[in-house]
Amino acid sequence: MFVVRIPVSFFPRFVACPIANIEATMKLLSLWTVLLAVVSLVLYKIFLSLKEKRRQNAEAARRGCGECPMLPKKDILGITRFRESIRATRADRGPKYVVEEMNALGKDVHTVQVRVLDYTLNVTRDPENAKAVFSSQSNDFDIGVHRTQSWKPLLGVGIFTSQGETWKHSRALVRPQFSKEQVSDLDLAERHTRELSNRISAGVGGWTETMNIQPLFYNFALDTVTEFLYGYSVHAQNPDARAALPAVKGMDEPNLLELGGNFDQGKRWIEERGAFYKWYWLISSKDFDHRCREIHKLVDWFVQTRLQGGEKEKDPQLADGRKKFILLNELAKETQNPLELRNESLSLLFAGRDTAGALLGWVFYFLARNERVFNKLRTIVLETFGAHTTSEISFAQLKACQYMLHVINEAFRVAAVIPLNERVAVRDTTLPHGGGPNGDQPIFIPKGRQVLIATYAMQHRADLWGDDVEDFVPERWESKKAGYEFIPFGVGPRSCLGRE
Ligand code: HEM
Repeated sequence: MFVVRIPVSFFPRFVACPIANIEATMKLLSLWTVLLAVVSLVLYKIFLSLKEKRRQNAEAARRGCGECPMLPKKDILGITRFRESIRATRADRGPKYVVEEMNALGKDVHTVQVRVLDYTLNVTRDPENAKAVFSSQSNDFDIGVHRTQSWKPLLGVGIFTSQGETWKHSRALVRPQFSKEQVSDLDLAERHTRELSNRISAGVGGWTETMNIQPLFYNFALDTVTEFLYGYSVHAQNPDARAALPAVKGMDEPNLLELGGNFDQGKRWIEERGAFYKWYWLISSKDFDHRCREIHKLVDWFVQTRLQGGEKEKDPQLADGRKKFILLNELAKETQNPLELRNESLSLLFAGRDTAGALLGWVFYFLARNERVFNKLRTIVLETFGAHTTSEISFAQLKACQYMLHVINEAFRVAAVIPLNERVAVRDTTLPHGGGPNGDQPIFIPKGRQVLIATYAMQHRADLWGDDVEDFVPERWESKKAGYEFIPFGVGPRSCLGRE
């Protein structure tokens, strides 16, 4: 219990108050009471935080931890850093901002502590610490409540947003659907790739006009992933190709075409909420609510086609008589709960569309700027696959095309599709590196502390990748066996299910 003692002289004006002014006196009195309560609360919080700091110092010393370098505050309350990081996120330069701030402290400083307003977190670009967080000490960490809460309005409770036992249940439900045979349907990819090339028309001399192809890749990814998940492509690439949709009792026919736009805006809101850390709840808007509602309406419609549909919906056949794999149908064999089906399938849609669309965009970005790499890749692809139709090419053959994998890896490395990951300590723990004067001692991570794993920053460390770290050089992968400094699909118990 924290007691504040106040001298009697604190109240002289009240003691001298005449009866006629009793109303004014009461007002002043209540003002003083509020002020007193606020001051007491602040002092109490300071007391608690000092007590916790002392406990943490003692615990850190007991565990042999060294001090972790602190990013300079820039102002006493840490407001400037908060504003800077939000601006960087809005300008899509969050990953670069992290590198610049860490480099400003020292190019050999790879784990730092940051204070933003009253919130402390750690940021690391040290592969050993990434290994601890994701693998060797993964029991000490889980995804944070900020991530859960920031994303929940859109994704609900599913594999991406749940923790502990709830997450284990989701993972057990979804994981079996990602066996190699099921995700290697090249016919599906082929059909949507043809549609993609139809969107790019060649002009004079076989060249296209200058155009923004990134939206085409997002549409391609959306078409492919919706067909894989729900059996229906939303045909974002070609609205005219849309087949007649089955009627669902009690539901209007959904507007498939708006899905992409709703996703883009919904994701913007989620990123903004994430950038506000524990103050994510400050960011809400009618637009965000609207986007979430529209996305839910569409996914619910897909779910109901399955729940209300007959045998044709449950086990559709391909033209050649094979069974068509639809992930929702497989999930529905395990649960008939419409909300669970919505949340789990929506998590996969969200996971698959943006990442795959962004990766394709980056690969083409680098190919367009590296003629040597483009020509080499083109020759290899033509030599290896040129004489075959798609149905003659296997998934295993594609994966064996080394140079193509090197180009993809290099795009992942230089651009980083997921440049920042995070975990929160579920108990007091340590990270193996970054403490003490030489950074070789462990650092103490108290329960509740958020750790950002800066994958982009890790992939841009010259000491790990060489002096040409900023260049796009797929050949570096011929001799490179990457460890935790390159984890584009995450690693450990929560690693990506869709990497194939
Ligand atoms: C370029 C493509 C992709 C990249 C770079 C990527 C990257 C990642 C990363 C880094 C994680 C780990 C998140 C964490 O540690 O918290 C992850 C998780 C996940 N990914 Fe992917 N992903 C890609 C494509 C896909 C696709 C196509 C799907 C499914 C259709 C998918 C499904 C998932 C799921 C379900 C998880 C969550 C696993 C869990 O929390 O248990 N991903 N992905």
